[in-house]
Amino acid sequence: MFATLKDFDLKNKRVLLRVDINLPIEPRTMKILDDTRIMRIIPTLKSLDNARTVLLAHQSRPGKKDFTTLKKHAKRIEQIIGRDVQYISDVFGATAEKDIKKLKNGDILVLENVRFCSEEVSETVKSMPPEEQANTHLVRRLSSYCDFYVNDAFAVCHRNQPSVVAFPEVLPCCAGKLLEREVKMLSKVLKSNGTSKAFILGGAKAGSSLDVIKNVLEKDTATVVLTSGLIGNIFLIAKGFHIGDENRKILSERRYDSLIQEAKNVLDRYGDKIKVPLDLAYQKNGSRIECPVEKFPDNKILDIGIDTIASYVSIINDSKIVVANGPCGVFEKEGFELGSYEILKAMARSKAFTVIGGGHLSVIAQKINLTNDISYISTGGKATMSFLAGEKLPGIEALINNRGKKYD
Ligand code: 3PG
Repeated sequence: MFATLKDFDLKNKRVLLRVDINLPIEPRTMKILDDTRIMRIIPTLKSLDNARTVLLAHQSRPGKKDFTTLKKHAKRIEQIIGRDVQYISDVFGATAEKDIKKLKNGDILVLENVRFCSEEVSETVKSMPPEEQANTHLVRRLSSYCDFYVNDAFAVCHRNQPSVVAFPEVLPCCAGKLLEREVKMLSKVLKSNGTSKAFILGGAKAGSSLDVIKNVLEKDTATVVLTSGLIGNIFLIAKGFHIGDENRKILSERRYDSLIQEAKNVLDRYGDKIKVPLDLAYQKNGSRIECPVEKFPDNKILDIGIDTIASYVSIINDSKIVVANGPCGVFEKEGFELGSYEILKAMARSKAFTVIGGGHLSVIAQKINLTNDISYISTGGKATMSFLAGEKLPGIEALINNRGKKYD
Protein backbone atom coordinates (compact mmCIF):
# COMPACT_ATOMS: atom_id res chain seq x y z
CA MET A 1 0.00 0.00 0.00
CA PHE A 2 1.01 3.63 -0.35
CA ALA A 3 2.29 5.93 2.42
CA THR A 4 -0.16 8.44 3.91
CA LEU A 5 0.12 11.85 5.54
CA LYS A 6 0.35 10.17 8.95
CA ASP A 7 3.78 8.78 7.97
CA PHE A 8 5.42 12.21 7.56
CA ASP A 9 6.04 15.48 9.35
CA LEU A 10 5.66 18.06 6.60
CA LYS A 11 6.17 21.15 8.76
CA ASN A 12 8.10 23.84 6.81
CA LYS A 13 8.07 21.69 3.67
CA ARG A 14 7.00 22.94 0.25
CA VAL A 15 4.31 20.40 -0.57
CA LEU A 16 3.13 19.96 -4.13
CA LEU A 17 -0.47 18.80 -3.68
CA ARG A 18 -2.15 17.31 -6.78
CA VAL A 19 -5.89 17.61 -6.38
CA ASP A 20 -8.85 16.99 -8.69
CA ILE A 21 -10.97 20.13 -8.64
CA ASN A 22 -12.24 19.62 -12.17
CA LEU A 23 -15.67 21.18 -11.61
CA PRO A 24 -18.90 21.48 -13.57
CA ILE A 25 -18.81 25.01 -15.02
CA GLU A 26 -21.54 26.80 -16.95
CA PRO A 27 -19.76 27.50 -20.26
CA ARG A 28 -21.53 30.80 -21.02
CA THR A 29 -21.06 32.54 -17.65
CA MET A 30 -18.12 30.37 -16.51
CA LYS A 31 -19.92 30.05 -13.17
CA ILE A 32 -18.94 27.12 -10.94
CA LEU A 33 -22.04 24.93 -10.67
CA ASP A 34 -20.92 22.57 -7.92
CA ASP A 35 -17.97 22.76 -5.52
CA THR A 36 -18.18 19.30 -3.94
CA ARG A 37 -14.71 18.35 -5.15
CA ILE A 38 -13.29 21.42 -3.39
CA MET A 39 -15.13 20.54 -0.17
CA ARG A 40 -13.65 17.05 -0.30
CA ILE A 41 -9.99 18.25 -0.35
CA ILE A 42 -10.42 20.61 2.61
CA PRO A 43 -9.40 17.98 5.25
CA THR A 44 -6.10 17.45 3.41
CA LEU A 45 -5.52 21.19 3.07
CA LYS A 46 -6.22 21.65 6.78
CA SER A 47 -3.84 18.86 7.74
CA LEU A 48 -1.11 20.72 5.83
CA ASP A 49 -1.61 23.83 8.00
CA ASN A 50 2.06 24.03 8.94
CA ALA A 51 3.43 23.27 5.49
CA ARG A 52 3.66 25.49 2.39
CA THR A 53 1.06 24.13 0.01
CA VAL A 54 1.29 24.36 -3.78
CA LEU A 55 -1.89 23.16 -5.45
CA LEU A 56 -1.61 21.50 -8.84
CA ALA A 57 -4.86 20.72 -10.68
CA HIS A 58 -6.69 20.61 -14.01
CA GLN A 59 -10.00 21.90 -15.29
CA SER A 60 -11.59 20.10 -18.25
CA ARG A 61 -9.67 19.26 -21.45
CA PRO A 62 -8.24 21.33 -24.33
CA GLY A 63 -10.93 22.20 -26.86
CA LYS A 64 -13.84 22.03 -24.41
CA LYS A 65 -15.88 25.10 -23.48
CA ASP A 66 -15.11 24.81 -19.78
CA PHE A 67 -11.37 24.48 -20.35
CA THR A 68 -10.39 27.49 -18.29
CA THR A 69 -8.09 28.94 -15.64
CA LEU A 70 -8.16 28.01 -11.97
CA LYS A 71 -8.62 31.58 -10.76
CA LYS A 72 -12.25 31.02 -9.68
CA HIS A 73 -11.32 27.70 -8.07
CA ALA A 74 -8.71 29.49 -5.95
CA LYS A 75 -11.27 32.10 -4.88
CA ARG A 76 -13.72 29.37 -3.93
CA ILE A 77 -11.10 27.52 -1.87
CA GLU A 78 -10.33 30.79 -0.08
CA GLN A 79 -14.03 31.31 0.76
CA ILE A 80 -14.42 27.75 2.03
CA ILE A 81 -11.22 27.48 4.05
CA GLY A 82 -11.39 31.04 5.35
CA ARG A 83 -7.72 31.88 4.70
CA ASP A 84 -5.94 33.77 1.93
CA VAL A 85 -5.31 31.60 -1.12
CA GLN A 86 -3.00 32.88 -3.85
CA TYR A 87 -3.42 32.08 -7.53
CA ILE A 88 -0.86 32.53 -10.31
CA SER A 89 -1.25 32.10 -14.06
CA ASP A 90 1.87 29.96 -14.27
CA VAL A 91 2.68 26.29 -13.61
CA PHE A 92 6.44 25.86 -13.68
CA GLY A 93 7.93 29.08 -15.10
CA ALA A 94 9.84 31.91 -13.42
CA THR A 95 6.74 33.30 -11.64
CA ALA A 96 5.93 29.89 -10.16
CA GLU A 97 9.53 29.49 -8.98
CA LYS A 98 9.61 32.93 -7.36
CA ASP A 99 6.21 32.62 -5.68
CA ILE A 100 6.73 29.05 -4.46
CA LYS A 101 10.05 30.00 -2.91
CA LYS A 102 8.41 32.95 -1.09
CA LEU A 103 5.75 30.78 0.57
CA LYS A 104 5.53 30.68 4.36
CA ASN A 105 4.07 27.99 6.59
CA GLY A 106 0.29 27.87 6.24
CA ASP A 107 0.29 29.56 2.82
CA ILE A 108 -1.67 28.04 -0.07
CA LEU A 109 -0.78 28.80 -3.68
CA VAL A 110 -2.89 27.57 -6.62
CA LEU A 111 -0.96 27.08 -9.86
CA GLU A 112 -2.57 27.47 -13.29
CA ASN A 113 -4.54 24.65 -14.97
CA VAL A 114 -1.85 22.02 -15.55
CA ARG A 115 -3.55 20.98 -18.81
CA PHE A 116 -2.48 24.35 -20.25
CA CYS A 117 1.01 22.72 -20.37
CA SER A 118 1.49 20.81 -23.61
CA GLU A 119 3.50 18.06 -21.90
CA GLU A 120 0.60 17.19 -19.59
CA VAL A 121 -1.79 16.56 -22.49
CA SER A 122 0.66 15.24 -25.11
CA GLU A 123 -0.34 11.77 -26.34
CA THR A 124 3.36 10.93 -26.76
CA VAL A 125 4.14 11.81 -23.15
CA LYS A 126 1.05 9.96 -21.91
CA SER A 127 2.26 6.81 -23.63
CA MET A 128 5.58 6.93 -21.73
CA PRO A 129 6.31 5.17 -18.44
CA PRO A 130 6.43 7.44 -15.35
CA GLU A 131 10.24 7.44 -15.18
CA GLU A 132 10.38 8.92 -18.69
CA GLN A 133 7.60 11.40 -17.94
CA ALA A 134 9.81 12.59 -15.09
CA ASN A 135 12.11 14.11 -17.75
CA THR A 136 9.48 16.59 -18.90
CA HIS A 137 10.13 20.27 -18.20
CA LEU A 138 6.95 20.33 -16.13
CA VAL A 139 8.20 17.70 -13.71
CA ARG A 140 11.90 18.59 -13.66
CA ARG A 141 11.31 22.28 -13.02
CA LEU A 142 8.32 22.17 -10.69
CA SER A 143 9.81 19.38 -8.56
CA SER A 144 12.97 21.45 -8.12
CA TYR A 145 10.97 24.13 -6.26
CA CYS A 146 9.15 21.63 -4.00
CA ASP A 147 10.16 19.15 -1.26
CA PHE A 148 7.32 16.66 -1.26
CA TYR A 149 4.44 15.41 -3.47
CA VAL A 150 0.99 14.52 -2.13
CA ASN A 151 -1.57 12.98 -4.46
CA ASP A 152 -5.13 13.68 -3.33
CA ALA A 153 -6.55 13.53 -6.85
CA PHE A 154 -8.26 10.14 -6.85
CA ALA A 155 -10.60 11.16 -9.68
CA VAL A 156 -7.72 11.54 -12.15
CA CYS A 157 -5.60 8.60 -10.92
CA HIS A 158 -6.65 6.56 -13.99
CA ARG A 159 -4.69 8.95 -16.20
CA ASN A 160 -1.07 8.28 -17.09
CA GLN A 161 -0.05 11.97 -17.10
CA PRO A 162 3.02 13.72 -15.65
CA SER A 163 1.16 15.54 -12.86
CA VAL A 164 -0.35 12.22 -11.72
CA VAL A 165 2.42 9.63 -12.16
CA ALA A 166 5.81 11.31 -12.59
CA PHE A 167 6.36 13.45 -9.49
CA PRO A 168 6.65 10.37 -7.22
CA GLU A 169 9.68 9.40 -9.34
CA VAL A 170 11.57 12.50 -8.21
CA LEU A 171 10.02 13.60 -4.92
CA PRO A 172 9.15 11.75 -1.71
CA CYS A 173 5.41 11.14 -1.85
CA CYS A 174 2.25 9.95 -0.18
CA ALA A 175 -1.53 9.86 -0.59
CA GLY A 176 -3.74 12.65 0.74
CA LYS A 177 -6.71 12.02 3.01
CA LEU A 178 -9.33 11.92 0.25
CA LEU A 179 -7.38 9.47 -1.89
CA GLU A 180 -6.81 7.29 1.17
CA ARG A 181 -10.54 7.27 1.97
CA GLU A 182 -11.60 6.60 -1.62
CA VAL A 183 -9.34 3.53 -1.76
CA LYS A 184 -10.54 2.30 1.63
CA MET A 185 -14.24 2.62 0.84
CA LEU A 186 -14.07 1.31 -2.71
CA SER A 187 -11.90 -1.64 -1.66
CA LYS A 188 -14.77 -2.72 0.60
CA VAL A 189 -16.79 -3.42 -2.55
CA LEU A 190 -14.04 -5.53 -4.11
CA LYS A 191 -13.23 -7.52 -1.00
CA SER A 192 -16.73 -8.84 -0.38
CA ASN A 193 -16.62 -11.89 -2.66
CA GLY A 194 -19.70 -14.01 -3.20
CA THR A 195 -21.99 -11.12 -2.28
CA SER A 196 -24.77 -10.01 -4.63
CA LYS A 197 -23.52 -6.88 -6.34
CA ALA A 198 -25.46 -4.74 -8.77
CA PHE A 199 -23.71 -2.28 -11.06
CA ILE A 200 -26.00 0.39 -12.49
CA LEU A 201 -24.56 2.18 -15.50
CA GLY A 202 -26.05 5.09 -17.40
CA GLY A 203 -25.14 8.56 -18.63
CA ALA A 204 -23.61 9.58 -21.92
CA LYS A 205 -20.13 8.05 -21.69
CA ALA A 206 -21.08 4.75 -23.29
CA GLY A 207 -17.52 3.78 -24.22
CA SER A 208 -16.33 3.98 -20.60
CA SER A 209 -19.48 2.21 -19.40
CA LEU A 210 -18.89 -0.68 -21.79
CA ASP A 211 -15.28 -1.02 -20.63
CA VAL A 212 -16.51 -1.19 -17.04
CA ILE A 213 -19.21 -3.73 -17.89
CA LYS A 214 -16.68 -6.00 -19.63
CA ASN A 215 -14.30 -5.74 -16.71
CA VAL A 216 -16.77 -6.31 -13.90
CA LEU A 217 -18.26 -9.31 -15.66
CA GLU A 218 -14.92 -10.86 -16.69
CA LYS A 219 -13.54 -10.48 -13.16
CA ASP A 220 -16.81 -11.54 -11.56
CA THR A 221 -17.02 -8.26 -9.65
CA ALA A 222 -20.68 -7.82 -10.61
CA THR A 223 -23.58 -10.22 -10.15
CA VAL A 224 -25.82 -8.14 -12.37
CA VAL A 225 -25.46 -5.04 -14.56
CA LEU A 226 -28.41 -2.67 -15.01
CA THR A 227 -28.13 -0.42 -18.06
CA SER A 228 -29.73 2.88 -18.97
CA GLY A 229 -28.68 6.05 -20.82
CA LEU A 230 -26.64 5.62 -23.99
CA ILE A 231 -25.16 2.29 -22.93
CA GLY A 232 -28.71 1.05 -22.37
CA ASN A 233 -29.59 2.12 -25.94
CA ILE A 234 -26.55 0.28 -27.30
CA PHE A 235 -27.50 -2.94 -25.55
CA LEU A 236 -31.10 -2.59 -26.76
CA ILE A 237 -29.88 -2.36 -30.37
CA ALA A 238 -27.47 -5.25 -29.77
CA LYS A 239 -30.46 -7.32 -28.62
CA GLY A 240 -32.31 -6.50 -31.85
CA PHE A 241 -34.72 -3.77 -30.67
CA HIS A 242 -35.47 -0.84 -33.00
CA ILE A 243 -35.14 2.39 -31.08
CA GLY A 244 -35.60 4.80 -33.99
CA ASP A 245 -33.35 6.78 -36.32
CA GLU A 246 -33.01 9.74 -33.99
CA ASN A 247 -31.45 7.64 -31.24
CA ARG A 248 -29.23 5.81 -33.76
CA LYS A 249 -28.04 9.22 -35.01
CA ILE A 250 -27.08 10.31 -31.49
CA LEU A 251 -24.91 7.20 -31.15
CA SER A 252 -23.31 7.74 -34.59
CA GLU A 253 -22.55 11.40 -33.82
CA ARG A 254 -20.66 10.25 -30.75
CA ARG A 255 -18.90 7.56 -32.80
CA TYR A 256 -20.46 4.78 -30.75
CA ASP A 257 -21.59 2.60 -33.71
CA SER A 258 -18.76 0.13 -33.23
CA LEU A 259 -19.85 -0.45 -29.63
CA ILE A 260 -22.95 -2.27 -30.86
CA GLN A 261 -20.94 -5.26 -32.08
CA GLU A 262 -18.90 -5.19 -28.86
CA ALA A 263 -22.14 -5.19 -26.87
CA LYS A 264 -23.33 -8.22 -28.88
CA ASN A 265 -20.13 -10.06 -27.96
CA VAL A 266 -20.66 -9.21 -24.29
CA LEU A 267 -24.26 -10.43 -24.50
CA ASP A 268 -23.09 -13.72 -26.03
CA ARG A 269 -20.93 -14.39 -22.98
CA TYR A 270 -22.85 -12.76 -20.15
CA GLY A 271 -26.35 -12.14 -21.52
CA ASP A 272 -28.14 -13.42 -18.41
CA LYS A 273 -26.36 -10.88 -16.21
CA ILE A 274 -27.14 -7.80 -18.30
CA LYS A 275 -30.47 -6.05 -17.87
CA VAL A 276 -31.76 -3.58 -20.45
CA PRO A 277 -34.69 -1.15 -20.13
CA LEU A 278 -38.16 -2.68 -20.56
CA ASP A 279 -39.77 0.65 -21.34
CA LEU A 280 -38.60 4.16 -22.11
CA ALA A 281 -39.90 7.73 -21.92
CA TYR A 282 -40.04 10.44 -24.58
CA GLN A 283 -41.66 13.84 -24.92
CA LYS A 284 -44.79 14.60 -26.93
CA ASN A 285 -46.56 17.97 -26.87
CA GLY A 286 -44.62 18.88 -23.76
CA SER A 287 -45.63 15.73 -21.82
CA ARG A 288 -43.79 12.61 -20.73
CA ILE A 289 -44.98 9.55 -22.63
CA GLU A 290 -43.83 6.02 -21.82
CA CYS A 291 -43.68 3.12 -24.21
CA PRO A 292 -42.45 -0.52 -24.09
CA VAL A 293 -39.13 -0.95 -25.93
CA GLU A 294 -40.77 -3.31 -28.49
CA LYS A 295 -42.94 -0.46 -29.83
CA PHE A 296 -40.75 2.55 -29.28
CA PRO A 297 -41.49 5.32 -31.84
CA ASP A 298 -38.86 7.46 -33.59
CA ASN A 299 -38.44 9.89 -30.69
CA LYS A 300 -35.50 10.88 -28.57
CA ILE A 301 -35.17 8.61 -25.52
CA LEU A 302 -35.21 10.80 -22.42
CA ASP A 303 -35.56 8.37 -19.50
CA ILE A 304 -36.30 4.81 -18.45
CA GLY A 305 -39.99 3.99 -17.90
CA ILE A 306 -41.93 2.90 -14.80
CA ASP A 307 -41.66 -0.85 -15.48
CA THR A 308 -37.89 -0.59 -15.83
CA ILE A 309 -37.70 1.46 -12.62
CA ALA A 310 -39.75 -1.18 -10.76
CA SER A 311 -37.58 -4.01 -12.06
CA TYR A 312 -34.30 -2.22 -11.26
CA VAL A 313 -35.56 -1.21 -7.78
CA SER A 314 -36.39 -4.83 -7.00
CA ILE A 315 -32.85 -5.88 -8.00
CA ILE A 316 -31.44 -3.10 -5.78
CA ASN A 317 -33.54 -4.41 -2.88
CA ASP A 318 -32.08 -7.90 -3.35
CA SER A 319 -28.45 -6.76 -3.51
CA LYS A 320 -25.91 -6.42 -0.73
CA ILE A 321 -23.75 -3.97 -2.65
CA VAL A 322 -25.01 -1.47 -5.20
CA VAL A 323 -22.74 0.70 -7.31
CA ALA A 324 -24.13 3.34 -9.66
CA ASN A 325 -22.49 5.63 -12.20
CA GLY A 326 -24.26 7.98 -14.62
CA PRO A 327 -27.89 9.16 -14.70
CA CYS A 328 -30.69 7.06 -16.23
CA GLY A 329 -31.82 9.78 -18.62
CA VAL A 330 -31.83 13.47 -19.43
CA PHE A 331 -32.43 14.40 -15.80
CA GLU A 332 -31.94 18.11 -16.46
CA LYS A 333 -35.21 18.12 -18.43
CA GLU A 334 -38.30 18.49 -16.25
CA GLY A 335 -40.29 15.27 -16.09
CA PHE A 336 -37.35 13.09 -17.14
CA GLU A 337 -35.51 13.04 -13.83
CA LEU A 338 -37.82 10.28 -12.58
CA GLY A 339 -35.59 7.28 -13.39
CA SER A 340 -32.46 8.78 -11.83
CA TYR A 341 -34.39 9.99 -8.77
CA GLU A 342 -36.11 6.66 -8.15
CA ILE A 343 -32.92 4.62 -8.55
CA LEU A 344 -31.11 6.89 -6.10
CA LYS A 345 -34.04 6.83 -3.67
CA ALA A 346 -34.07 3.02 -3.77
CA MET A 347 -30.33 2.98 -3.10
CA ALA A 348 -30.82 5.40 -0.19
CA ARG A 349 -33.59 3.24 1.30
CA SER A 350 -31.80 -0.07 0.88
CA LYS A 351 -29.68 -1.73 3.55
CA ALA A 352 -26.98 -2.45 0.98
CA PHE A 353 -23.55 -0.84 0.97
CA THR A 354 -24.22 1.78 -1.68
CA VAL A 355 -21.66 3.64 -3.75
CA ILE A 356 -22.17 6.32 -6.35
CA GLY A 357 -19.57 7.71 -8.68
CA GLY A 358 -19.55 10.39 -11.34
CA GLY A 359 -20.50 14.04 -10.91
CA HIS A 360 -24.07 13.85 -12.18
CA LEU A 361 -25.40 11.33 -9.67
CA SER A 362 -23.81 13.16 -6.76
CA VAL A 363 -25.40 16.43 -7.92
CA ILE A 364 -28.79 14.67 -8.08
CA ALA A 365 -28.25 13.08 -4.66
CA GLN A 366 -27.55 16.54 -3.24
CA LYS A 367 -30.57 18.04 -4.95
CA ILE A 368 -32.96 15.51 -3.43
CA ASN A 369 -31.19 15.44 -0.07
CA LEU A 370 -29.93 11.88 -0.16
CA THR A 371 -26.21 12.41 0.31
CA ASN A 372 -26.31 11.22 3.92
CA ASP A 373 -28.18 8.04 2.98
CA ILE A 374 -25.65 6.78 0.43
CA SER A 375 -22.82 4.80 2.03
CA TYR A 376 -20.11 6.42 -0.06
CA ILE A 377 -20.07 9.10 -2.73
CA SER A 378 -16.91 8.86 -4.74
CA THR A 379 -15.41 11.97 -6.32
CA GLY A 380 -14.35 9.92 -9.34
CA GLY A 381 -16.17 8.95 -12.50
CA LYS A 382 -14.05 6.71 -14.72
CA ALA A 383 -11.40 6.43 -11.99
CA THR A 384 -13.98 4.97 -9.61
CA MET A 385 -15.35 2.50 -12.10
CA SER A 386 -11.88 1.42 -13.23
CA PHE A 387 -10.89 0.88 -9.61
CA LEU A 388 -14.03 -1.15 -8.96
CA ALA A 389 -13.34 -3.15 -12.09
CA GLY A 390 -10.09 -4.22 -10.47
CA GLU A 391 -7.83 -2.21 -12.75
CA LYS A 392 -4.60 -0.75 -11.46
CA LEU A 393 -4.77 3.04 -11.50
CA PRO A 394 -1.48 4.61 -12.65
CA GLY A 395 -1.63 7.41 -10.05
CA ILE A 396 -2.01 4.94 -7.18
CA GLU A 397 0.63 2.58 -8.60
CA ALA A 398 3.09 5.49 -8.74
CA LEU A 399 2.58 6.13 -5.02
CA ILE A 400 2.93 2.43 -4.16
CA ASN A 401 6.03 1.90 -6.32
CA ASN A 402 7.80 4.92 -4.84
CA ARG A 403 6.82 4.40 -1.22
CA GLY A 404 9.71 5.19 1.12
CA LYS A 405 11.94 6.27 -1.77
CA LYS A 406 14.19 9.31 -1.62
CA TYR A 407 13.03 10.59 1.77
CA ASP A 408 15.57 11.36 4.48
C1 3PG B 1 -12.97 13.57 -14.00
O1 3PG B 1 -13.69 14.57 -13.95
O2 3PG B 1 -13.42 12.42 -14.14
C2 3PG B 1 -11.50 13.75 -13.80
O3 3PG B 1 -11.19 15.05 -13.46
C3 3PG B 1 -10.73 13.29 -14.99
O4 3PG B 1 -11.00 14.12 -16.07
P1 3PG B 1 -10.62 13.64 -17.55
O5 3PG B 1 -11.57 12.54 -17.91
O6 3PG B 1 -10.77 14.86 -18.40
O7 3PG B 1 -9.19 13.15 -17.51
